[in-house]
Amino acid sequence: MNTATTEIFIQILIVDDEENILRSLKRLLTNEEFEVLTAISGEEALKILSVNPDIALIVSDQRMPGLSGVEFLEQAKSLAPDATRIILTGYADVNAAIDGINMGGAYRYITKPWNDEELLRIVNEAVLKFVLIKDNQRLTSIVKKQNEELKEWNSRLEATVQEQTLEIRKQNEELRGLNESLGNNFKNTILAFSGLIELRDERAASHSRNVAELSIKIAKQLGLSGDEIQTVSAASLLHDIGKIGIPDILLTKDPDEMKPEETAVYSQHPVRGQTAIDSIEALREVGTIIRHHHECFNGGGFPDKLTGESIPIGARIISIADFIDRTIRKLGGDKAVELTLKKVKEELGKRFDGRLYPLIETPARDLYDRILQQTGLIEMELNPKDLRSGMILSKDVISGTGILILRKGMKLHEKNIDALRRSYQLDPSASGIFVMIEK
Ligand SMILES: [Fe+2]
Ligand SMILES: [Fe+2]
Repeated sequence: MNTATTEIFIQILIVDDEENILRSLKRLLTNEEFEVLTAISGEEALKILSVNPDIALIVSDQRMPGLSGVEFLEQAKSLAPDATRIILTGYADVNAAIDGINMGGAYRYITKPWNDEELLRIVNEAVLKFVLIKDNQRLTSIVKKQNEELKEWNSRLEATVQEQTLEIRKQNEELRGLNESLGNNFKNTILAFSGLIELRDERAASHSRNVAELSIKIAKQLGLSGDEIQTVSAASLLHDIGKIGIPDILLTKDPDEMKPEETAVYSQHPVRGQTAIDSIEALREVGTIIRHHHECFNGGGFPDKLTGESIPIGARIISIADFIDRTIRKLGGDKAVELTLKKVKEELGKRFDGRLYPLIETPARDLYDRILQQTGLIEMELNPKDLRSGMILSKDVISGTGILILRKGMKLHEKNIDALRRSYQLDPSASGIFVMIEK
């Protein structure tokens, strides 16, 4: 027979109480593939099975003293469950053959006397059956083992992936936190710089922040991207940073009232501003906007006399917001917003980009209404005799002959009130003195 598919060592057990039958069967079956064991009783055969549980085939006589063939096979099942069983019976003993199959779990029965050729064929088939069962068991156990290994690898892999995912998530969170704090640090630095400019120039208190608020509102309505809006915001806060290098005396003057040589120095502040932040790579674009925030739409501005859309949009936005905030401060009073917006309208297409006006009108009214409400102050025109300590001048005080007596923004106290009253007696102005008082 062909056992090439397996390397199982084949043992056959023959059980018969007649020695000559044992001998002749042993002779018939012994070859290079099979080892034949013999027993002269069921009892002896059970002993052999108990030490050789891997026997492939049991061939047992039915009629034996002691255990019958069926009884022996029944007990043999528990000792060698995979062995194929064949029962030998006499011609007349059909019932024993049936019992052998039903109770003894026999695979076949063979009648005595047997035909050698047929017996060999049956034995070969029976051994093949055993070999297939063993092969199947072996393969099943390999598959089971591999499945278990696979399961273990999978769970180990899953654990590793989970561990790595957790690690990555943790790193991402740390990175996000770092980025956030970097971003906040950056924003705070810009705010601190813009605060420096305002410290330098008292009249510019909150100027940069107001310009930023208006500019962001225009940028959003124009549909600029988040990054572009950030850039406009930073440029608004820093637009006058170049004024830090300008002499104090110039900062207190209105640009419209400067002498030509003073205007020349003042006009340098956009370029100085750009230069100041040029070393910070993340602020390069901001620098470009700062450089051009005094350009005019018709080319009449400075420093590069750019025209129309060649002026960066951020610079065009800041230009109009800057003008509005400066003019409202300069004019002061209830009508300041309306008068300023009127001036802006007159400059559309000349100084300013005309399409920005509809976008800034409402935000400007909202911002300055809110500021006025927050301060809780209103402007009053008073006679010098009604002035009190603590009041703040909302307009410059100019004598009847045009001499500047006190600057707008000055806080009144007894001494300067006395001085004011004296000058009003000597050189009276046509108007009263404008001050901010609580509502
Ligand atoms: Fe400026
Ligand atoms: Fe400004």
